[in-house]
Amino acid sequence: MNVQWYPGHMAKAKRMMQENMTLIDVVIELVDARIPFSSKNPDIDSLAGNKSRVILLNKSDMADPKFTAAWKTYFEAKGFFVAPINSKTGNGIKQVQDIVMKACAAKIERDRKRGILNRPMRAMVVGIPNVGKSTFINSLVGKASAKTGNKPGVTKGKQWIRLNKNIELLDTPGILWPKFEDQAVGMRLAMIGSINDTIINTTELSLELILFLCKNYPTELVKRYEIELTEEVTDQKIASSVLDKIAIKRGCLIKGGEPDIERAALLVMDDFRNNRLGYITLEFPDLPKEPNPS
Ligand code: G4P
Repeated sequence: MNVQWYPGHMAKAKRMMQENMTLIDVVIELVDARIPFSSKNPDIDSLAGNKSRVILLNKSDMADPKFTAAWKTYFEAKGFFVAPINSKTGNGIKQVQDIVMKACAAKIERDRKRGILNRPMRAMVVGIPNVGKSTFINSLVGKASAKTGNKPGVTKGKQWIRLNKNIELLDTPGILWPKFEDQAVGMRLAMIGSINDTIINTTELSLELILFLCKNYPTELVKRYEIELTEEVTDQKIASSVLDKIAIKRGCLIKGGEPDIERAALLVMDDFRNNRLGYITLEFPDLPKEPNPS
């Protein structure tokens, strides 16, 4: 993983994205289905201007299906075309080409009125590091693709991958950077393992996760570690007593039989990141009362 957060790097990625944006019709934005808010950079809205927009809730195999459905409704209400996918297994990928075409329908109609027929729609994949862009492109493109552009003798240009007669995809994804202004965003990115653990202390991370789980997924926590939750877990201090219980139950002990908190914290984070606690979504949308997809 090893994400590098250099300002220079970010500025270059943004410049490249701005440049590529002028070439495309539709933006395919990947977000992590477990943290659709924190894995999304709002700057993309101004960068994308009036391009057609698709949001794919990737890694939906790890998220809570009922909240994935809720996020889909939420983004659709904002006018996006949305689908949950699993790029690793290819689940949900088949529908992507249809969704891209639906997102471009208005544009195709405008083209038609101007006498432009059968022009393929050009798409670019964007998303923050580690959200699954490369895995998605590989899954979408498969083996049946033909690369266009960069023909011998032609000046080096962009590589376009022809998905079918209607869609071409830019082969390099655009990199967005998460918005770290809100501390909770950084925390959730660290929880899913998108930020190096050295940035946020693992014990603190696990206590925040335990707090969240006790409130939102207590059954999963109790079942996994065979512990009892005897009081409401409202702060890190109480969460720390839960972590003690987990350490004891799992034999994470230091000399003298005291709980080894650091080892237990690592265990909890590893269990969470590998779905051993079940399907968990870390943030929920504020659903509009009357979804009104456009
Ligand atoms: P990026 O280009 O956006 O930086 O992300 P990349 O495709 O490299 O994917 C980052 C990690 O996320 C990879 O795991 C990849 O396998 C995993 N991944 C991508 N899409 C999905 C998905 O839909 N579901 C799940 N469960 N995982 C997904 P890795 O640990 O870095 O590599 P590896 O374990 O696959 O070898």
